[in-house]
Amino acid sequence: MIDKKQLNSNIPKHVAIIMDGNGRWAKKKGLFRAVGHENGSKAVREVVENCAEIGVKYLTLYAFSTENWNRPKLEVDTLMKLLVNALKKEIKTLQNNNIKLNAIGNLQSLPKKARTELLQVIEKTKTNSHMTLTLALSYGSREELIKTIQEISIKVKNDVISPHLINESVINEHLYTKNLPDVDLLIRTSGEQRISNFLLWQIAYAELYFTEILWPDFKKEDLFEAIFNYQKRERRFGKTSEQLS
Ligand code: IPE
Ligand code: IPE
Ligand code: MG
Repeated sequence: MIDKKQLNSNIPKHVAIIMDGNGRWAKKKGLFRAVGHENGSKAVREVVENCAEIGVKYLTLYAFSTENWNRPKLEVDTLMKLLVNALKKEIKTLQNNNIKLNAIGNLQSLPKKARTELLQVIEKTKTNSHMTLTLALSYGSREELIKTIQEISIKVKNDVISPHLINESVINEHLYTKNLPDVDLLIRTSGEQRISNFLLWQIAYAELYFTEILWPDFKKEDLFEAIFNYQKRERRFGKTSEQLS
């Protein structure tokens, strides 16, 4: 087990997590999937607080994908209710830890109650500055890229920008993540080794970390272990190892 004292000062600036495995966690225990989601929702606080404590500046959590709308209605309703409850309850955690809430995704598609609660917490925490917690809600990377291309195309059509001036920064400015730096470390729980339409553009040079642990069981030691593993890697960004030293 890794303790936070074993970490060095190279803390990833932006950590993103695909919180997966709630359903299997419940199934293993002979419980309803909803109970898995409830416990998954409870697991979030420990990770948020510990990221803030060790100095992660941006934490982005994949909470609900555009594809997750295709789940049974009852399950979708449960997830939306849990979101509202978590927002109501955890605003205290955010204020106590000086954390600013942010959201990415097609927020218009969320039920009104969830959207209102979300926007309220974003408003109330907007001057917090220790860490930015971003919830990916009704988020899909392809949808985000389509939206980006549409917006840029309109600007081209209206002569606001000329096509040869489209570069990485122009694209970045049109993504939901416009205020976030690139992801340094992407964690996925539950043993699945795929990206599932999460931040495709933004993880171009992220370090990927997969763990078998199911999300409701993911504790601070598991977070520290992922970061410990990250700190042992050499990020070369296309260069040679010799160039880096
Ligand atoms: C992650 O757990 C939560 C969401 C995707 C909303 P899952 O519900 O996907 O759990 P598994 O993958 O079925 O175990
Ligand atoms: C990805 O998990 C989405 C979230 C964690 C919110 P899924 O469980 O939906 O992913 P797939 O369908 O197994 O790839
Ligand atoms: Mg899953």
